[in-house]
Amino acid sequence: MTESDLNQLVSQTAAPQDTRPLRSQERSRTRATHTVVHGDMNGENRLFGGRLMEWIDEAAGIAARRHCGGSVTTACVDSLVFKNPAYLNEIVVIDAYVTYVGKTSLEVRVDSYVEDVATGERKQINVAYLTEVCVGEDERPRRIPFGLKLDTDEQRNEWHMAQIRKMIRRERQEQGI
Ligand SMILES: CC(C)(COP(=O)(O)OP(=O)(O)OC[C@H]1O[C@@H](n2cnc3c(N)ncnc32)[C@H](O)[C@@H]1OP(=O)(O)O)[C@@H](O)C(=O)NCCC(=O)NCCS
Repeated sequence: MTESDLNQLVSQTAAPQDTRPLRSQERSRTRATHTVVHGDMNGENRLFGGRLMEWIDEAAGIAARRHCGGSVTTACVDSLVFKNPAYLNEIVVIDAYVTYVGKTSLEVRVDSYVEDVATGERKQINVAYLTEVCVGEDERPRRIPFGLKLDTDEQRNEWHMAQIRKMIRRERQEQGI
């Protein structure tokens, strides 16, 4: 992808054309809370990354199912960044929302936080982007019946950044990286 391809994508601000009925981000938004218990810890007495990834995958899958109104499967997890640790007994808040809807796949962003019960403040511990594919009974990709309603500039910006991530994923796949 050239710099001008990137600039062209980022400069687009209009909502995309979509002939499908639209569903809002809020309709499928999925929030979950977990207490970190002994079984979630790793040998360093921190939350085990694999457990957090399980919680992220589950929340993303639910958000995607809510949007598609049917079954989905996770095709790809990328840009999964661990920013801060979490410790025993802390409350982990997961917030998953759809950023982009393609023909049969959609992207879900998942933010994870540790919540301070005393102040209600949240510290981000992880951000991840997952690609979920809507599948039929034959487990093959199926057209997603709903587009995404973009209400705010932030949502429109997320959409265009998701398009860039999709192009990068495709290029990586094609080049076997
Ligand atoms: C996901 C799966 C159904 C895709 O099948 P496929 O034949 O590769 O699908 P296609 O090439 O027709 O692509 C379908 C859509 O998925 C997207 N896609 C496929 N592979 C992808 C990947 N690795 N990363 C990101 N997107 C991907 C395509 O871009 C396309 O999106 P679009 O229709 O919105 O443009 C298939 O690879 C699969 O079943 N994988 C296993 C999934 C699974 O078991 N997940 C749980 C892991 S424990």
